[in-house]
Amino acid sequence: MKKIIDRIFNHIGFYRNYSRKHEMYPHVHLNSEIQKALSIDTSNFKLLINTELTKQFLLEDFSGLPESKDIFSINGKMLPCWLESDNNLEDDWLTTKSYYPLYFHIVKTFSTNKSKLRVLEIGVRTGYFGVVCAKAVECSLLYVGVDPNIYVENGLELASKSFESIRSKKINYDYVLINGLSNDPHIQSSLACSGLFDIIHIDGNHTLKGKIIDIYFASKFIKTDGLILLDDYNFHSDIVQNAINRAFKLQWIKSIGYIATKRGLGVLRA
Ligand SMILES: C[S@@+](CC[C@H](N)C(=O)[O-])C[C@H]1O[C@@H](n2cnc3c(N)ncnc32)[C@H](O)[C@@H]1O
Repeated sequence: MKKIIDRIFNHIGFYRNYSRKHEMYPHVHLNSEIQKALSIDTSNFKLLINTELTKQFLLEDFSGLPESKDIFSINGKMLPCWLESDNNLEDDWLTTKSYYPLYFHIVKTFSTNKSKLRVLEIGVRTGYFGVVCAKAVECSLLYVGVDPNIYVENGLELASKSFESIRSKKINYDYVLINGLSNDPHIQSSLACSGLFDIIHIDGNHTLKGKIIDIYFASKFIKTDGLILLDDYNFHSDIVQNAINRAFKLQWIKSIGYIATKRGLGVLRA
């Protein structure tokens, strides 16, 4: 008799926990907000750029910026994130000062006078942006990266080795790498339970739907004074601008800034 009563109570406990879990994460499904964003009519769209937002990061003269080769090396030895095949003559994205060195300036400027910084990156690849953060930030830093290793099979491993090399020399720096998709509800609910972030860099799935999902969750996971950065503002046709506009219309984000990096960088505040 006792066994039967215990079993009934266990079942009640299970169902209570199960329904609580689903109430706790109402946002993890492709919810009506994301559906709404996808169905907005964009024919009369015009992006309203807030120049105040980006003024603090503007830089006329790039001569004082570090070289990419210096950012991605320690004592003259290139870090594992650096792939020689990325360094090609047709496109100088890896070495131009208007890409990672300019990101270095943005992250450094934003983190000055902070005691700690929490960064989330969607789309890590081999960890270039993660290394930029580790080198640019002087205060305590936690970097969290999510990537399914689609572009580079061992991308997370290379990122991890690069971050570890820096961590062995830098106190107050740590990182977490998650192998998965940012649109996976399990990943989203893990991030929802991980505390808010100061910077979120969105550079993963490059479809309109993927960008909209990432901006939506970034707007939930960012601190009130945090920065959401979107790479490829002027790349991959107008997908990034289109997604930003939809997010702005639905007030997920309150202001939009722009920095003229190699491929354009959207800077958002939620
Ligand atoms: C342009 S690369 C990122 C470059 C990286 N931000 C850097 O600075 O080196 C895009 C990355 O996004 C990853 N990716 C694609 N879809 C994704 C998704 N749904 N969630 C997370 N990452 C994704 C790919 O595996 C790829 O490594």
